[in-house]
Amino acid sequence: MSRSLESSTISKRPDGFEQKDWSSAYRNVEKELSQIPLSPKRGQIPQEICGTLFRNGPGRLERSGQWVHHPFDGDGMVTAVRLINGTATLTNRFIRTKEWKEEEKADRFLYRGVFGTQKPGGQLANMFDLRLKNIANTNVIQLGDQVLALWEAASPHALNPVTLETYGLSSLEGVLKPQEAFSAHPRFDPGHKGSPMMVNFGVKTGPKSTIRLMEFATTGPSVGRLINERKDVFDGFAFLHDFAITPNWAIFLQNAISFNPLPFVLGNKGAAQCLSSELNKNGKFLIIPRESGTFAGQPPLIYDAPKGFVFHHLNAWEKGEEIVLDSIYYKDFPSIDPGQDFRSIDFGLLPEGLLSRCRINISTKEVASSVLSNQCCEFAMVNPTKQGLEARFSWMATAQQKTGNAPLQAIKKLDLLNGENYTWSAAPRGFVSEPVMIPKPDSDVEDEGWVIVLVWNGARIGTDLVILKANDLSEEALIELPISIPHGLHGSWAQCK
Ligand code: CO
Repeated sequence: MSRSLESSTISKRPDGFEQKDWSSAYRNVEKELSQIPLSPKRGQIPQEICGTLFRNGPGRLERSGQWVHHPFDGDGMVTAVRLINGTATLTNRFIRTKEWKEEEKADRFLYRGVFGTQKPGGQLANMFDLRLKNIANTNVIQLGDQVLALWEAASPHALNPVTLETYGLSSLEGVLKPQEAFSAHPRFDPGHKGSPMMVNFGVKTGPKSTIRLMEFATTGPSVGRLINERKDVFDGFAFLHDFAITPNWAIFLQNAISFNPLPFVLGNKGAAQCLSSELNKNGKFLIIPRESGTFAGQPPLIYDAPKGFVFHHLNAWEKGEEIVLDSIYYKDFPSIDPGQDFRSIDFGLLPEGLLSRCRINISTKEVASSVLSNQCCEFAMVNPTKQGLEARFSWMATAQQKTGNAPLQAIKKLDLLNGENYTWSAAPRGFVSEPVMIPKPDSDVEDEGWVIVLVWNGARIGTDLVILKANDLSEEALIELPISIPHGLHGSWAQCK
């Protein structure tokens, strides 16, 4: 990676926030509500906004006094806030996975979590239990008339878009085999080659890894149907959480990481705790032609990637011979060791995520990288109409401080051309989640619209919904929700039809 990333040092424990304000968000969601009307504590809900914000994340973190080892092991709970004509209503429901129902009945953990949660009873009770618990907690999207709760290692759960009632596991009309992986990070192509589509992948990993790339219709009579697919096999173990698309390519970053399953098999660690970074090695870009694009049927391109670890990409686009990919790089893979309590984690000891740009020249095979911002960030997005195209602006969650790792407390709009930025902050007692940018309908001004975000309010031990103007992040409305939602993962916006 570039010098700036190499030289960023792990700082002392960050200040400006209280650990207990941050960790107070980790609690069980006790209530399920149906279409409860909400009213702003401050400001007004813009009349022009029409649609539903769907959010997913862990909602159950403790059973009979036993806590999950890592919040990513918490059962998925979906929140839906519907905004129409200046009004808002809230619905929230746990996803009725088979495992959630069994554990509710037993009132204890019956399954091991991928991130290290063990069943009661010590090593002997966990040894050789290699079942995966589908916790359906990572993302939630609308596809046709169904809402899908996603978890990357298995099939999605289909939900009713209004009541959030769980219909059950979905094979997407027979596309997915039982237990087949389906990423929680689909990308929505706004219609580069005519009709819009959802592009997603599943990865089957081992000494060799197979990526199944799939394209689904998102409009018209065949909405939800598979249009194209291909499978490609790559050398080595592949931990692929996210990817990026351009009109012609699907771009993956295969992190330099190894997997030793023995501690998982023997009952000492969760599967994800058996991953370790190979710090001296470079990752690889795996660039797969899209079957709807110009290079359909051609083999993938493989190039060395910079050192560092990536969960999430911002966006990618094509420019002449180059593919440009913006991603959030960490120096190392962050993990929580057995015996460590995630609520007392020391942010000052964690590497920060830095938004960085790679220019991949597909003729010369040269890869050039640079850091776009030195401020720790996560959950970055562009205007969805710019997905796969060169975008000028990005919205993201950032730390309050300018350098080093710290909890996400602010929303930033960054001009990717000149670095100019605007910030809205919830500090010192508020903590932000992933911001969702809603473009203003029928506007072709890239930064016209709104940014909507759930904020953990440590002062009142509750969750606020904040609506900001996308162009300058000025506050339009703040709504205090009647439920307390732990720090969450991903979500999406479904525009009124
Ligand atoms: Co993610």
